[in-house]
Amino acid sequence: MRIVVLVSGTGSNLQAVIDAVKSGELDVEIAAVGADREGTYGVERSSEAGLDTFVVNFNSFPTRDEWDAALTAKVASYAPDVVVSSGFMRIVSPDFIDAFDGKYLNTHPALLPAFPGAHGVRDAMAYGVKVTGCTVHWADAGVDTGPIIAQEAVTIEPADSEETLHERIKVVERRLLVQTLAALAATPPK
Ligand code: GAR
Repeated sequence: MRIVVLVSGTGSNLQAVIDAVKSGELDVEIAAVGADREGTYGVERSSEAGLDTFVVNFNSFPTRDEWDAALTAKVASYAPDVVVSSGFMRIVSPDFIDAFDGKYLNTHPALLPAFPGAHGVRDAMAYGVKVTGCTVHWADAGVDTGPIIAQEAVTIEPADSEETLHERIKVVERRLLVQTLAALAATPPK
């Protein structure tokens, strides 16, 4: 199974995938890692691992549509079986979703459909829920919507800050992402 991983930030979920491939736990080929901006730790991790790494810089395009078309073409050039949004903080167009229909996987730090968006951890804390978690799902054209593949709960402790809670969620999230990819590798989407 060939995957392209898209990142925007620190890329710790990407690192978990890289490590699992290296250790033999995960039998997938990381065809490339792509980012929407320069200079992120995720891009650095990818380069350090010797992976094909590209940036389609959101700010270098006059319109969102042009950025989206460039991203779609670049990702498609790797002919991936699965595209992983691993902390990729951009909404992609319905055209992107069509191009990778049923192949665009997203991971999110909340129990969807609760608390979608860029601040899933903060929003869960602000609401006052006592249990949150993470979700791995097939992404459709909405914001963190689409068929759920796997979820796991994480308890919010009274002393939690957004950072401590997000880090505990990420520990679970990294494992869930690797497990999900391992299960998919057995029968990649057509
Ligand atoms: C992850 O927790 C991921 O679920 C979240 O960004 C973080 C990226 O961490 N994504 C979203 O919030 C998408 N709505 P990482 O860069 O360390 O892998």
